[in-house]
Amino acid sequence: KVLVVNFGGQYAHLIARRLRERAIYTEVVAPEDAVEAAKSQEVKAVVLSGGPSSVYQEGAPDVSNDLFALGKPILGICYGHQLIAKKFGGVVERGKGEYGKTLVKVLEDDVIFRGWEREEVVWMSHSDYVAKPPEGFKVLAVSENGYIAAMKKGNIYGVQFHPEVSHTPKGGLLLERFAREVARVESMWRPEDQIGRIVSQIREEVKDGDVIIGVSGGIDSTVTAILVHMAVGDRAKAVFIDHGLFREGEPERVVALLSSLGIKTHYVDARERFLARLEGVSDCEEKRRIIGETFAEVFAEAISLFPQAKYLAQGTLYPDVIESGAVKGADKIKSHHNVGGMPKWFTLKLVEPLREFYKDEVRRLAKALGLPDEVVYRHPFPGPGLAVRIIGPFTREKLDIVRKASKIVEEELGKEGLLRGVWQAFAVVGDDRWVGVKGDKRALGYVVTVRVVESEDAMTADWSRLPYEVLERISARITSEIPQVTMVTYAITTKPPSTIEPC
Ligand code: XMP
Repeated sequence: KVLVVNFGGQYAHLIARRLRERAIYTEVVAPEDAVEAAKSQEVKAVVLSGGPSSVYQEGAPDVSNDLFALGKPILGICYGHQLIAKKFGGVVERGKGEYGKTLVKVLEDDVIFRGWEREEVVWMSHSDYVAKPPEGFKVLAVSENGYIAAMKKGNIYGVQFHPEVSHTPKGGLLLERFAREVARVESMWRPEDQIGRIVSQIREEVKDGDVIIGVSGGIDSTVTAILVHMAVGDRAKAVFIDHGLFREGEPERVVALLSSLGIKTHYVDARERFLARLEGVSDCEEKRRIIGETFAEVFAEAISLFPQAKYLAQGTLYPDVIESGAVKGADKIKSHHNVGGMPKWFTLKLVEPLREFYKDEVRRLAKALGLPDEVVYRHPFPGPGLAVRIIGPFTREKLDIVRKASKIVEEELGKEGLLRGVWQAFAVVGDDRWVGVKGDKRALGYVVTVRVVESEDAMTADWSRLPYEVLERISARITSEIPQVTMVTYAITTKPPSTIEPC
C-alpha cells in the first residue's frame, strides 16, 4: 500500500482517493505517525501531501528525517515538495505564486511522466516555491512562469502542482506511475473485493449479543445494515426513527427496502415529539440542537427495547475516522452532527464496517450488494432533515410547503434525467411574502426558493444551469399544487460565499 502523510486541508484525502480509484490501496496518516507507519513491510511508498503552511513558519508540520532513511520511494506534493527541498538543503522562497490552471514543460523522460505530452496543463496553488533545488536533485519540469514544477533524486520526487485534483488531467496517471513503476505496488485493491473480509471481521468483532443499527435511508447506514446482517443474521436490529422531517414517502421506502433485504426494522414514530419541540424555533443551531437531543433520547428508548444489545453499528466513513483521531483507537461515539448530543453513558461497543472507505467506494459496495440506484445515487440529505430548509420560525405549515415543493423539484428533475448529475436539489421556504393573484383576489403568499447545486464534495458548489423550461415547470407546479405559495425563486449563488443549505 501507499501511505499519504497529511499536512492539512483536503489534499491528503484527495490523493488517497485518486490512488484508490486506480486500485492502489492507500492510507492517510498524521505527520507524527508517518515513520512508524512507513516501517511496515506493506508500505511501498510515501506521499507527502500539500497543506496550508509555509515550511519556514514556526510550528509548520514536519516529518522526521528517519522517514527518508527508510529508503522507500517518496513523492512530495506542493508543501511536501517544498519540505523535501528544505530538508535536503535547497532553498524555498516566497514569490508571486501561481494559482489555477498552469502550463508545465516536461524536460526529462522520467517514468512518472510517461503518458504526458511535452507540455501539459496542471493545477497550481502556491506562493512559496523551490528557488534552488537541493544538491543532486534534477529538475524534471518547469512551469510557464519559470518555477520548478518537478524534481527528483533517486526515488525521491517532488512536484509543485497538484496531481490529485481533477483540474490536472494527467495527474491521476502520474500518481499511478509513481505507485506502480517507481514503488512497484503490484496488488489491485477494489472495494467490492473487500466485502467478504469486512463481513468476517464483523463476525469476529461481534461474538454475542445484538447489534443495533440506526438507519436513516442514507447509503452509509443502509450498507452498514446489510453488512452487519450478512455477518450476524437476525442479531442485526435496524432502528429507524421517524422525526417527521423526512421527504414525502421516505420513511415507508426505507422500511420497505430493508424488509425486502430480510432486515427486520424497528420503526419508531417520534414525529410528534420532534415537531412539538421545534414549533416556533428560529435559530438554525437551536433547531439542530433540539433535533440532536431529541434523537438521542428517542434512540436510547428504542435501544432499551433490545435487552440483548451489545453493539452499535455506525456508517462512519474514512475521512471522519482520520479527522476525529479515532484511528488511534479512541473507541468513542463521535459527536456527529447527525446525532449530536448522543449520551456518553452509552455502553454499546461501536462497530464501524465502513471505517476504511470513502463515499464513492461505499457507492461501489452498495452496487455490488445489489442496492437499487435510488439508494446508490441518493443525494446527501441532512440529518436534521427538512428542518434546515425552513428559514425563520419552524411551523408545520412551512414544513408541509417544503415537503411538497421538494417533491416537485425532484420529480421534475427526475423526468429530465437531471437528478443523477446534480449534488442536491431541493426547495426552501422562509418568511418573505409576495402578493399573488388567484382568480380576481389578491393574497399574500409564501416565497419558495429552489436550490439545485453541482459539487464534488460539498466543500464548494455551483448552482446548476437548469434549462428554463424545467424551471418554468417547477414554478408552475409549485404555485398551482401548493396554494399558499405565490412566488418561486431560483438560488444562483455559489458556495462560497453561500452555503448549500439555507440554514
Ligand atoms: P452546507 O449547507 O454547509 O452543507 O453547504 C454542506 C453539506 O452538508 C449537508 N448538511 C448537513 N448534513 N446535518 C447533516 O447531516 C446537518 O446539520 C447539515 N447541514 C448541512 C448539506 O446538505 C450539504 O450536502
